Amino acid sequence: MAENLGFGVDIGGSGIKGGVVDMDTGELIGERYKVPTPQPSTPGACAGAVREVIGHFDWEGPVGITVPAVVTKGTVRSAANIDAGWIGTDASELFTSTLNRPVTVLNDADAAGLAEDRYGAGRDFDGVILLLTLGTGIGSALIYRGTLVPNTEFGHIEVEGKEAEHRAASSVKDRRGWSYEKWAGQVSRVFREYEKLLWPDLIIVGGGVSRKADKWVPLLEVKTPVIPAKLLNTAGIVGAAMASQRD
Ligand code: BGC
Repeated sequence: MAENLGFGVDIGGSGIKGGVVDMDTGELIGERYKVPTPQPSTPGACAGAVREVIGHFDWEGPVGITVPAVVTKGTVRSAANIDAGWIGTDASELFTSTLNRPVTVLNDADAAGLAEDRYGAGRDFDGVILLLTLGTGIGSALIYRGTLVPNTEFGHIEVEGKEAEHRAASSVKDRRGWSYEKWAGQVSRVFREYEKLLWPDLIIVGGGVSRKADKWVPLLEVKTPVIPAKLLNTAGIVGAAMASQRD
């Protein structure tokens, strides 16, 4: 049995998932447990759901928790795709009091970036890594030699008159019924803007649609190598567990 364990919870638009992480390998020990995200996804309702997820496991230690929003010093500062009641919430304080233990709160894409950098698609890569999660919105993480610059929020950069995530999140493809070809054209426009500003050495794409990366990554017209995330639906949990051990 592994000794070096952590625990992460990932709050997403549709589900709240958690699990015990083997910090030596970045793999989950046993199954992840998932409950539906309460609607409306208010801070109080989500805190109750997080407690339920953790209660499913025999875990007494500290936990890391992701939210799909900007987090500075434990306080949530934005709410593009979650209940507006999160803005200004001291999430660190809320979760610590609900869960009675030390808690670290961070942005969901930042957590995924940390996990991919250490255990996944960015492992052993030496250069500037830009991780982009394409889902309901676009999340971003910018990492250089293991150091993350938190809350980059590149999904909200304006690209040719429109917010990047309103152009190229996978939810746009689903909502409009676009083909991969059509959607890849929009993703390319957005990625080319990121290239101009950041000059990444590697782009890692995450989110559910990265499972079908072979259908659209080859269609992208960009300079930078683009590869799919490896941890897929566990990256947020693993990165949250990493963050809980760094505090
Ligand atoms: C939010 C980010 C989040 C991303 C992915 C964006 O709309 O502003 O904080 O990382 O969605 O969930």
